[in-house]
Amino acid sequence: MSVAPDINAPLALKGQVLTFKEDPDQYDYWEKGCVVIEGGFISAVGEAGRVAVPDGAHIVDHGDDLILPGFIDGHVHYPQMSVIASYGAKLIDWLNTYTFPEEAKFSDQNYAKATAEFFFSESLKNGYTTGAVFCTIHPESVDAFFTEAERLGLRMIAGKVLMDRHAPDDLCDTAQTAYDQSKALIEKWHNNGRCLYAITPRFAPTSTPEQLAAAGALYQENDGVYVQSHVSENVDEIEWVADLFPKASSYLDVYNGFNLLGPRTLYGHGIYFSGEDIKLAVETDTSIVHCPTSNLFLGSGLFEYEKLRDAGARLALGTDVGGGTSLSPFATMKAAYEIAQFRNYSLTPFEAFHMLTLGGAKALHLDDKIGKISPGFEADLTVIDLNSTDLIRHRMKRVDSLANTLFAQIILADDRAIRATYANGSLVYERDSK
Ligand code: GUN
Ligand code: ZN
Repeated sequence: MSVAPDINAPLALKGQVLTFKEDPDQYDYWEKGCVVIEGGFISAVGEAGRVAVPDGAHIVDHGDDLILPGFIDGHVHYPQMSVIASYGAKLIDWLNTYTFPEEAKFSDQNYAKATAEFFFSESLKNGYTTGAVFCTIHPESVDAFFTEAERLGLRMIAGKVLMDRHAPDDLCDTAQTAYDQSKALIEKWHNNGRCLYAITPRFAPTSTPEQLAAAGALYQENDGVYVQSHVSENVDEIEWVADLFPKASSYLDVYNGFNLLGPRTLYGHGIYFSGEDIKLAVETDTSIVHCPTSNLFLGSGLFEYEKLRDAGARLALGTDVGGGTSLSPFATMKAAYEIAQFRNYSLTPFEAFHMLTLGGAKALHLDDKIGKISPGFEADLTVIDLNSTDLIRHRMKRVDSLANTLFAQIILADDRAIRATYANGSLVYERDSK
C-alpha cells in the first residue's frame, strides 16, 4: 500500500465535490470543485478557479470523479476478516461455530498484525478512513490494530473485547482483568495521534453484571473514551438477555443500568427497539449503528430506519464484517435501501451517503473533525469514479440528477469505483497504482 510522502506540501484536488452541511438535504456541491489540503487539514474548498491554490501546491486533477469525505464504518470486527461468508448459522450458532474459534487466534501478535494490515488495506480500498472497530479480548490485538492505524495516519476508534462468561475459556477475561487491561490500553492509545479508545463489552450475555459495572466505571472515569457493544439484534439473543437480566425493562435498559449509555456510546443493530428504547437512546444521546448486510446475512431482522430517524437518533452505518458480508460502502448502502423498502420507506441516496459521512461523524461525536470537506477539518477524502464498469457507464447515460447519480452508484458500484483514498492529507490508496 502506498503512503504519500510529505503531508506538509500543499495539495489541491480537483473534481466534482460533495459535502453535507447538516442534514441529508443540505449539502454543498461543486461540479468543478477544488479541495486544498495543508498540513493534513483542509484549508479551502469551493469552485475551481475561485479557490486560492497555494504556490507550489501539488495539483491532482480527478476530472469528473466525485470527491467525498472519507467514509465512516460505525461498527466492524477486524479479527473476523477470515470468517466472512461462513455458511448456515444465525447469531449465537455463528458466534460459537465460526467466530469464537477464530478470535482465539489473536493471542498471537503476528497473526493479529497480519490481519490488521489486511483489514486496513481492504477498508481503504473501499474508501473507509474511519471505523469503530472491535478487537478481541487480547490486548495484543489492540496493539496490533492501533500500531497499524497510527502508521497509516487514520482516525480510528477501537478497543479490547470484554467477555467473562458464555464464551470459551481461552476467550474469557474477568471483571478485574477487563478493567485493568482496558485502563492500560486507554493510557497507551486514547488520543495517541488520531487513535481513540472504546470500552468494548461484546454484548450483555457474555459479561457478568460485575464486568458490565467495571465497563461503566471505565466510561465514567476516562475523559472522551467511547463505549461500543451490540444490542437487540436477534430474537433468541433478546430472550436470553431477558433471562439473564430479569430486572431490566429491555435489552437496551440492561446497559443503562450499568451507566453504559450516553455520548460516545455506539450500539450495533437495535433492530427490535420499542418506542421506549428509542426514547432512551435519544434521551441519553446514545448512537445506534445500522448494520444491514449483517442483518440480512444472519437473518436477524429488518431495522426501522425511519422510526429512529424521526425520533432524532444519532445513526451510523456499519459493515459488521464478518457477520456483515462486505467491506463495500455501496453494498452496505444498497442493503440499507433494500431493508428500508421492506419497511415501506425508500431511503434517499442523500440519507445513505450522509450516514457514511457527516451523519456517521455525528454518531461518533467527531463532526467537528471529520465527515465534512470544510476548512479546519481533517483531510480524509474518498474519490469515486462514477463510470467504473460498463453497466454503470450505460446506466449513467440516463441519469439526470445528483440524486440519481448517487443512487446508481449505491446499487451498481463496488470497490472498482474507489479511485483514491486520502487520510490525514496523504494518499493511502490508489486504484490504478502499479
Ligand atoms: N453479538 C455479539 N458478538 C457479535 C459479533 O461478533 N457479531 C455480531 N453481528 N453480533 C454479535
Ligand atoms: Zn458486530
